[in-house]
Amino acid sequence: MTRKLFIAGNWKMNLDLASATALAEGLKKAMQGIQDVDVAVCPPNVYLHAVATVLEGSNIAVGAQNAYFEKEGAFTGETGMRMLKDVGCRYVILGHSERRHILHESSELINLKVHAALEAGLIPILCVGELLAEREAGTTDLVNRRQFEGSLSGVSADEMKKIVIAYEPVWAIGTGKVATPEQAEEVHAALRALIAERYNAEVAETVRIQYGGSVKAENSRDILSKPNVDGALVGGASLKVDSFMGIINGR
Ligand code: PGA
Repeated sequence: MTRKLFIAGNWKMNLDLASATALAEGLKKAMQGIQDVDVAVCPPNVYLHAVATVLEGSNIAVGAQNAYFEKEGAFTGETGMRMLKDVGCRYVILGHSERRHILHESSELINLKVHAALEAGLIPILCVGELLAEREAGTTDLVNRRQFEGSLSGVSADEMKKIVIAYEPVWAIGTGKVATPEQAEEVHAALRALIAERYNAEVAETVRIQYGGSVKAENSRDILSKPNVDGALVGGASLKVDSFMGIINGR
C-alpha cells in the first residue's frame, strides 16, 4: 500500500497575527494544484481561527500544537479539543518533546489528550523521540516504545489507523543536527514493527510516520525517500513560504 506523504508545519510560539495570516495566504497560493501530498500548518492557538479562515476551501489543513483533555469547565488558560474543531482544526499535535520536557507532560497525560482528541473528531499527530543521552546509552527503541505505549494506551485499531506518528529525536529539534536518513529509517521501521506487534500488519501499513528535527529543503528529499518515512513535521523551516514550499516541492 502507498501512504500519502504528509508534511506539517509546526509554527511553535512564533509569528503575530499579521505575519501568520500572510504566511497562510502565501502558502495557499503556492499550494494551488498540488494534490499528491497532504499539507497542514499548526499555528499558535490564538491565531488558529484567523489562519483557518484564510485557508478555508484550500488544500492546506489546520492543526493545533496542544490542547487539554477535559471537555469544558474550570480549567483556566486551557483550550478544549472541541474548541479546536470549532475553529476549523483537523489535527492536533500531542506529546511534542517541548511539551514533554519543558512543560513536563507525562505519557499518561498525553494519553488522556489522545482519547479526547479522537472523541472530538481531531486527528492526533503523536510525537515520540529520544534525548541525545538516551540515544548514546543505546535506549532509543526502548524510550520510543515507552512513549508510544504510554501515550496510545487504550487506542483501538480503527482509531490507530487515523493517528499520525511523528518521530522527533530531541537532539535534532531546532539544533540544525538532522538525523541521517538511515537513522530515521531505522527508528521508523522499529515504530512500524511496534504497531504491527500491538495491532496488526494492516494497521502498521496504514499509519503515517513523519520525521521531525531540523528538516529543511536541503535535507528533506533524502529523508522522505526512505520507505518508512511518510512525511515531515517541520519547525523552523515552516515559518517562511519559500523554505516550507522547498520541502513540499523537493520531495
Ligand atoms: P525544527 O522543529 O524543524 O525547528 O527542528 C521540529 C519540531 O519540533 O516539530
